[in-house]
Amino acid sequence: TGLITLDDGYANTGSAKSAITFIDGEKGILRYRGVPIEDLAERSSFIETAELLIFGELPDEEERADFRSLLTENSALHRDMRKHFDGFPVNAHPMSILSAMVNALQAHDIPEHRFTDENGFREAAASLLAKTRTIAAASYKSHIGQPIAYPRYDLPYAENFLHMMFSVPYRDYEATPEVAHALNMFLVLHADHEQNCSTSTVRMVASSGANLYASVSAGINALWGPLHGGANMGVIDMLEHIHEGSWTAKQYVDRAKDKHSGVKLMGFGHRVYRNFDPRARILKEAAHNLLDAMHIDDPLLDIAREVEQAALADDYFASRQLYPNVDFYSGIILRAIGIPLDMFTVLFAIGRTPGWIAHWKEVADDPRQRINRPRQVYVGPNLSQWVPRAER
Ligand code: CMC
Repeated sequence: TGLITLDDGYANTGSAKSAITFIDGEKGILRYRGVPIEDLAERSSFIETAELLIFGELPDEEERADFRSLLTENSALHRDMRKHFDGFPVNAHPMSILSAMVNALQAHDIPEHRFTDENGFREAAASLLAKTRTIAAASYKSHIGQPIAYPRYDLPYAENFLHMMFSVPYRDYEATPEVAHALNMFLVLHADHEQNCSTSTVRMVASSGANLYASVSAGINALWGPLHGGANMGVIDMLEHIHEGSWTAKQYVDRAKDKHSGVKLMGFGHRVYRNFDPRARILKEAAHNLLDAMHIDDPLLDIAREVEQAALADDYFASRQLYPNVDFYSGIILRAIGIPLDMFTVLFAIGRTPGWIAHWKEVADDPRQRINRPRQVYVGPNLSQWVPRAER
């Protein structure tokens, strides 16, 4: 079989050729289809960014209007889909509901044979973007025992999500421009990140020829883990423990250095970024601006800054080139907006959906795509005997 090279955690293995997202980890550069993340975060809407990632170019007026209509038409869940919510216990994790519902969408949404024509794919992409948002808000409403709020056709993406989350019968929630801007920016910053764990999972599943919904559902499950998207919940847990006085910031940082403690500094470190994560820089400032605009004094922001300073001053983190990543400050923003903690990773998933769709399409469109099938270095017994059960 020849000699197999082991690359633990795929640290040095290029798994794909991709034209979607560029990262320079040394210089802290992130670009979607060549456009700098800083420009997109400040100036682009989430859906425009999604179109850039999925279709390769920023949309003109007509394309934007066309895609907007597709999102609107596809934003409500089919009545049969809504029945699925009743099957989950009230305290089910919203990530489990989201992945199951996206998988179930395959049975309710755009039939797979329509994906082969561009219009069918466009509609499926719009539907998935619109429905992850609707599913997320509906799962929250089911969890707190309130009726589901229907999407409004006049609202942009982020505002519509907040409406579905926080409107109650006879009282519609109106997001302030600052809140809408912050959520939009959060989503843009999460929209893609090349071959991260969940996107690689989507590509892996797609490489077998599996459909869009099945592939994205697998990506959602990969994102759930605490080392990936789950870290945004982990950061707030960590900051709350420090706030409650269980540890000081410095003590927490020291625990994270101890490999036997089972604790890592959540929101710190990255496989690719070695000097800083540009998304964390933008979010740190955005968190500060949002709290200012909302006149909120969140003690967790001060604690986050304290933890960051303590870690950056520490040789353990400096020598390993560990810096705050996208999850470090994002939770402060979500808290200020009123998103409950167990929905944080769902918000990451909504944000990452354009990237998953773009990567699925890149795999599906490549006539030279082979099935992704890594090799292994076998370390088990060479030859063992089968022994009858009574003699074992
Ligand atoms: N706290 C303490 N030690 C750390 C941390 C951390 N947050 N991150 C890395 N290290 C240590 C690690 O133990 C290793 O030490 P040594 O060389 O002595 O064995 C060294 O730094 C290199 O780390 P690694 O584990 O080889 O790095 P990786 O590229 O395999 O993992 C990571 C990257 C992000 C999973 C990891 O840094 C981590 O677990 N961070 C905390 C969780 C987190 O914030 N995840 C979000 C990642 S960014 C957004 C996303 O993808 O969701």
